[in-house]
Amino acid sequence: MTINEPTSRRCRITWVDETDSTQEELRRHIEDHDNLSVVAAEHQTAGRGQRGNDWHSQAGMNLTFSMLLRFGGGYSSTLKASDQFGITRAMTLGVSRYLEEEGVGCRIKWPNDIYVRNRKICGMLIENVIEDGMVVRSIVGIGLNLNQRVFPLRLPNPTSLSLLTGKEYRTHDELEKLCSFLADIWEEALYLPEPGNRLLYTERLYRLGEFHDYVRPDGSTFEAMIVGTTRDGLLQTRNRKGELEEFAFKEISYVI
Ligand code: BTN
Repeated sequence: MTINEPTSRRCRITWVDETDSTQEELRRHIEDHDNLSVVAAEHQTAGRGQRGNDWHSQAGMNLTFSMLLRFGGGYSSTLKASDQFGITRAMTLGVSRYLEEEGVGCRIKWPNDIYVRNRKICGMLIENVIEDGMVVRSIVGIGLNLNQRVFPLRLPNPTSLSLLTGKEYRTHDELEKLCSFLADIWEEALYLPEPGNRLLYTERLYRLGEFHDYVRPDGSTFEAMIVGTTRDGLLQTRNRKGELEEFAFKEISYVI
C-alpha cells in the first residue's frame, strides 16, 4: 500500500441497496474485507448512532458507510488499546479535511461529531475489537448528510452539505473523495506520533477556548471553557476560577 495508489485500490468500496446497518453488514462479512474496505448503503433500516440512538438518513440522499481498519497481524501498524482514541482523532480530521475541500468550514464536537457552526453534519460510531491490550480491528461507521434538506423534528440541529452550499451531490463520487481523505489521514496518523495528531485534533475542537454551559449526568449545569484533550481522549475544561476538569464520554453534555 502506498500513499499514491488510487482510492479505489486503497479503499475497496462496496455499495449495497439496503441493509440493517453498515456496521453489521461489514461485521457479517468481516473475513472478506481487507484494511480500509468500505461498505456503504443507499438505505439503512436500523442505522445506529451513539448512546444507543438510531441514525436517521433519507434513502439515497446521504453517505452512510462503515470502514474497516485492521491492525497488527501482518498489517502495517499496531495500536495499543490505550491509544485507541487515535482512531477518533484521525477519522474526524479526515472528514474535516474533506468538508473543507468542499468549501465548508467545520469543527469537531468532541469526541466525534462534525459541526458546522451549531449544526451537526456528520456523526461517527467507532467500534473497536481489543485482544490482549491491542486493537486488532476497528469498524468506523460514518453518517454524513449530503443532499437531505428536510429532517425529522426530533433531531435537534441537523444540517447537510446541500443546505450549506445550495449544490446537489452524487453520493458515489463524494464517497470516493471522502475515502481518499480518510485513507490519507490514516496513513499520516501512522507516522505522526503523539502529540502531533492530538494537537491537530484539539485545535479543531468546537467551542475551544470559549466559555459555554455544559450539563453533568445528574442534570446540574456548569460553565466552562474547553481547553484540550488528553492522550486517551478525555475532554479537558477550565472554569472561571481556572480549575481543570477532565471528562469521559457521557460525563458531560453540551448546551447548544
Ligand atoms: C452518531 O452521531 O450518533 C453516530 C452516527 C453514526 C451513523 C453511521 S451511518 C453508517 C454506520 N452504520 C450505522 O448503523 N451507524 C453508522
